[in-house]
Amino acid sequence: YDICNLEYEALVLIVTSTFGNGDPPENGEYFFVTKIIYLFGPSIAENTYVIKIYLSGLLFIELKHRKKAETKRRFQSVATATPMSRRVSTKQNSFSNDIQSSTQGVLANVKFAVFGLGSRAYPHFCAFAHAMDTFLGELEGERLMEIGEGDELCGQEESFRRWAQEVFTSACDTFCLREQVNLEDANASLSTSKFERTDFRVVVHDKQVQPNVIKTLGTMHRKKLSSCRLIRRKNLQSEESGYILFSRSTILIQLETKNCENLNFCPGDHLGIYPRNDPDLVKELLSKIRDATDENTVVVLEAKREKRSIIGNLKYWEEDTRLPPCTLNMAFSRYLDITTPPTPQLLKLFSECDVNQEESKRLEVLSQGQSEYEDWKFLNNPNLIEVLNQFPSIQLEAALLLKQLPLLQARYYSISSSPEIFPGEIHCTVSVVTYHTRGGTGPLHHGVCSSYLNSITDDEEVACFVRTAPTFHLPLKDNIPCILVGPGTGIAPFRSFWQQRLAEIRKGAHNGCTMALLFGCRNPNHDHLYKQEVAAAMKEGAISHAYTAFSREKGKPKRYVQNVIMSEIPDFVYDIVHEKKGHFYVCGDVTMATEVNKTLLKILCIKGEMTKEKAQEFINSMKTEERYHEDIFG
Ligand code: 2AM
Repeated sequence: YDICNLEYEALVLIVTSTFGNGDPPENGEYFFVTKIIYLFGPSIAENTYVIKIYLSGLLFIELKHRKKAETKRRFQSVATATPMSRRVSTKQNSFSNDIQSSTQGVLANVKFAVFGLGSRAYPHFCAFAHAMDTFLGELEGERLMEIGEGDELCGQEESFRRWAQEVFTSACDTFCLREQVNLEDANASLSTSKFERTDFRVVVHDKQVQPNVIKTLGTMHRKKLSSCRLIRRKNLQSEESGYILFSRSTILIQLETKNCENLNFCPGDHLGIYPRNDPDLVKELLSKIRDATDENTVVVLEAKREKRSIIGNLKYWEEDTRLPPCTLNMAFSRYLDITTPPTPQLLKLFSECDVNQEESKRLEVLSQGQSEYEDWKFLNNPNLIEVLNQFPSIQLEAALLLKQLPLLQARYYSISSSPEIFPGEIHCTVSVVTYHTRGGTGPLHHGVCSSYLNSITDDEEVACFVRTAPTFHLPLKDNIPCILVGPGTGIAPFRSFWQQRLAEIRKGAHNGCTMALLFGCRNPNHDHLYKQEVAAAMKEGAISHAYTAFSREKGKPKRYVQNVIMSEIPDFVYDIVHEKKGHFYVCGDVTMATEVNKTLLKILCIKGEMTKEKAQEFINSMKTEERYHEDIFG
């Protein structure tokens, strides 16, 4: 969307996810950035500065000098609740005045509404959607409706449908379209699926195309992808753990990137990987599709279109552009998501297939998307194949799946190596996910991408791209002390940090200052990842301190990283964070990150004799100053 047209629109609807710690999704960042450039005027955009905006609870704007690539933060915000124009103007400079004067009434003729997608398991739920909502409001757009929110953990699709219906009704009222529009029909179409079985068909494609999967994935997802190959895979957990086949195994994946452009990265960045679905699942799925073709037959999906002509409406079939010509095997292996639990909408479509009455009824109930669906989904976390096993009478056609299944998305891993120590390579620390559903009594499920990485051979092409982390990088100045907290696979990015320091020390470019690593695992003999590497990095001075928390050591009390921080090194942490203005990094799951945050708050209260509010303010200021970094996953 060309953002410059925004002010000429009558109605703008924004549906957006939030990424990481309240940051925009990639394409949202562009939207926001462009918007600001647009507001500032081209003089700022063109010549000297690239403007970047990050939202991490607090919002600030960073200006980068293009030539020197040096970062100058020109102004920072105060609290998120403060309207942006005021926030900006708290630091008096010409920019803030520019913003204030140029934003006034920009969207005065635009009606808008925003819907946010997120998960309440994360802090900053739907933060970017809220920021957009506030932002458009400040530009004096007219809000059609209060912001809507969809929680991935509960009823997201239903919340969206409700919002969509309400916003549609409200727009009809605002634009005086009540007379022209049959609201009942329109709302009915918003609440059910648009898929008409007779309007889609799968036909055999005339050429035996040899699809270039990486190129095709790149086109489908609008990304520049590179093809990497496996150099080595190493099990990081001790052989004696007995965890190697099932439960918890962690592997180091070393990928070769020598001939890849676009894979430059800094320690702290992520690698996006497009996986392949489990071949056994694909095979089973194909066996359940009534009109599945031979495995090697290339097919395309066609949709019936209508053309208006003088002699009436002409109906014809046209290639659907969603998927490229490919075999069904390829579509279900590489392009479509077959493991995420089917949505209520898809279940509704299943209930309308040839299916026996009893199963159709049950599908109908689930497709209401109410608590019945949520409970069923939560308990079974069923993949598509399990759903088809649960409802064996469904006569499934390929067209329905090709049209309706979501695209298989990339998975992100914190890069675990430094380009200076391993040039031409990218390493990832991957926890191989396997679990039994129904609280341990159900079937065994395998994580899509981690199982893929655990099974690839060195002759397979792995589709990759680098995603630059907004702030999760080592400080630019080398004498600033750092504390790194990363239990389990949370240690992943820190391996790239200590390797980076090692490279600098070896070159004589760094004399090694405080870099303390806090790692947590279950047992010192089982899952103490990178134990030897950490010891070696300490010897060379890249890591100054290493602390460990073992949660399941025989005969000893459970200890987590936050317990070690509180009981063993509170003075050390306070000194680095408060006195020395050092950096604090946390990587790992959201519960741990929250606990660590609370622990730091406590230390600030006790050691710094601060009130809780003051301590929170201090942590907020650390975030604004880019001294508190989080890389959190679910
Ligand atoms: P547990 O599995 O014994 O609960 C890496 O996964 C390490 O992080 C494990 O030792 C794990 O302990 C621990 N862990 C689990 N939940 C945590 C939490 N909320 N905070 C800190 N560490 C946690």
